[in-house]
Amino acid sequence: MPSARHDRQLKLGAFLHVTGHHVAAWRHASSEPRGIVSLAHHVELARIAEQGLFDLVFLADNLTVSQSGVTALHHLSKAAHFEPLTLLSALTAVTTHIGLVATATTSFNEPYNLARQFASLDHLSGGRAGWNLVTSSNEDEAYNFGLDEHLSPDVRYRRGREFAEVVRGLWDSFEDDAFVYDQQGGVFFDPAKLHRLDHRGVYFKVRGPLNVPRSPQGRPVVVQAGSSEAGKELAAETAEVVFTAHQNLDSATAFYRDLKDRLPRFDRSASDLLVMPGIFPVVGATQQEADDKFGELQELILPEVGVSLLSKMIGFDLSSFPVDGPVPDLPPHLHGSSRPELLLAKARRENLSIRGLYQGIAGARGHHQVVGTPERIADEMQSWFEADAADGFNVMSPTLPGGLIDFVTFVVPVLQRRGLFRTRYEGSRLRDNLGLPVPKFRSRTGPLESGLGATQ
Ligand SMILES: Cc1cc2nc3c(=O)[nH]c(=O)nc-3n(C[C@H](O)[C@H](O)[C@H](O)COP(=O)(O)O)c2cc1C
Repeated sequence: MPSARHDRQLKLGAFLHVTGHHVAAWRHASSEPRGIVSLAHHVELARIAEQGLFDLVFLADNLTVSQSGVTALHHLSKAAHFEPLTLLSALTAVTTHIGLVATATTSFNEPYNLARQFASLDHLSGGRAGWNLVTSSNEDEAYNFGLDEHLSPDVRYRRGREFAEVVRGLWDSFEDDAFVYDQQGGVFFDPAKLHRLDHRGVYFKVRGPLNVPRSPQGRPVVVQAGSSEAGKELAAETAEVVFTAHQNLDSATAFYRDLKDRLPRFDRSASDLLVMPGIFPVVGATQQEADDKFGELQELILPEVGVSLLSKMIGFDLSSFPVDGPVPDLPPHLHGSSRPELLLAKARRENLSIRGLYQGIAGARGHHQVVGTPERIADEMQSWFEADAADGFNVMSPTLPGGLIDFVTFVVPVLQRRGLFRTRYEGSRLRDNLGLPVPKFRSRTGPLESGLGATQ
């Protein structure tokens, strides 16, 4: 329950990535890189997050091993991983309260299949499923689906919007009380409570209905993480949780306000959508311990990974320069570009080598990095929460399971003492814990008149 001091509380997601979010986490002594193909490893992570009363675990996904240019080397431990829905189906059997959020793309799936999969997960988990709707920003995915080039952002988002509309329509095929299981009367379900979709759009033609009963949450929770104009519009229209990446309070507050201000146009209110920026917490009993922990990880960054990351960020290839030498001047075509110039200015100001500069950017990669004591990390989260920059956080532990254990053991109790976080789950469904309403059944068509008998 919210405390007397706070009428709302933080929501927490555990963004799971096998060995952790730091690019070199897989090389850390505490890591188990073989975890990428281990159910036991993922069970352990989900259970730790559930012990910490997290709202959800979140699995990202790409339908490719990234091979384009410098991106190929960024995060070696992301080269291979389980398919998220399959993994979450297994995790549902060993957890009871935590939400299970899987990423699935609207660019290389069919809505009927995906609606079925998420509705099934929602049933299997007793109402804990969530879908992170992405449109695939990684162009490499296209090459696995019969294309020679990626769909344009415009097409991706138009398709994504229609896809979401079809999926939500399909989730409302059977009314909540359609199944009567009347053994005496011989009525399995009431045909008057089964509705076709009859969708005919630009990208999809889907008759429906879906062959899964309406699920415990009514509809699984829809998550989104787009940051372009089209991404924010889609989120405002369809999403209930938005993941995002911000390094400072000002940009997080601006994003939060921007998104919430869009909601009335879609007949929605601020409480219908939760904004959860990423946080990359390095926890130590003292500031020195946290700094040392982080330093240890930074030293493990392979130079080719660090140089590749920095090259991408700065906009030109630094691989032919000595890693412990100075950062070279920018080529003429980058003069006037803000990010390359900022990075170069930082290197000059702090007298940083290429290694020093990549160590500065490689950690949280765009997310909010906080290295410090549990109190310091809680302070930071509290200030973002109270400044309306966040309704909660997507916790990106630098190492897993170690970083998540640290967070649950040391940071969660501080948040609880301050009345900022729950001391027990509010309910058993993801929506109950997130404080999101259960969507009412909404049919686009009348009941099926013929074709599907009640006893079939
Ligand atoms: C926390 C977070 C997680 C994301 N996870 C994925 C993912 O698993 N797969 C994916 O294709 N994109 C993922 N994205 C990228 C977004 O879906 C989106 O494409 C990106 O932020 C760029 O925004 P835009 O598509 O509106 O340009 C993620 C973004 C964030 C902030």
